Amino acid sequence: MSDAPVITPALAADIAPVMVVMNEAFDPAFGEAWSAGQCLGILGLPGVWMVLATVGEDPAGFALCRIVLDEAELLLIGVRPAFRRIGLGRSLLANVEQTAKARGAACLHLEVRDGNPAIELYRHHGFAETGRRKDYYRGREGRIFDALSLSLSFAVQNASNMES
Ligand SMILES: CC(C)(COP(=O)(O)OP(=O)(O)OC[C@H]1O[C@@H](n2cnc3c(N)ncnc32)[C@H](O)[C@@H]1OP(=O)(O)O)[C@@H](O)C(=O)NCCC(=O)NCCS
Repeated sequence: MSDAPVITPALAADIAPVMVVMNEAFDPAFGEAWSAGQCLGILGLPGVWMVLATVGEDPAGFALCRIVLDEAELLLIGVRPAFRRIGLGRSLLANVEQTAKARGAACLHLEVRDGNPAIELYRHHGFAETGRRKDYYRGREGRIFDALSLSLSFAVQNASNMES
């Protein structure tokens, strides 16, 4: 894998490569993947944006986000298994953060299934736990999982950057 990943804005016309990532990245056991229709539906709403990461010709990762007033939310982030642990998730998150700030966000929120290894990625990026939603996700065979609410405050981030 010699090509460097490239992250670009993704529009409705890019839904096919996004769904390639979606269908590989999310384990069906947890029922977290969205359908193309769900993605296209939300993409039509104000304040919603999506980015696609490609490596050479291959779709490798994506993120779907929205902003309402000054609060941004990471709705979904996924990287295909073949492209994991090379920093793509981190790069997507940095890209989302940059765009959220450029659009006027003061913070970035997300919800994640308790136990998802993605939590490590978020913690390393500076997200802090702000709450827990009991029995929020329903997976296969009736399995139920809590959701953790995590937030990254850009003001807190700036303050700690100035201290260090
Ligand atoms: C979460 C996900 C996007 C991470 O993508 P990735 O490209 O592998 O992440 P990165 O390579 O940028 O990882 C950055 C850091 O996050 C942490 N991390 C990422 N995946 C991890 C895992 N499975 N276990 C533990 N730590 C992990 C590590 O600290 C890692 O740094 P390191 O590789 O130097 O140790 C990917 O695993 C994925 O698509 N998961 C399934 C979809 C999902 O659950 N998305 C989140 C909910 S929407």
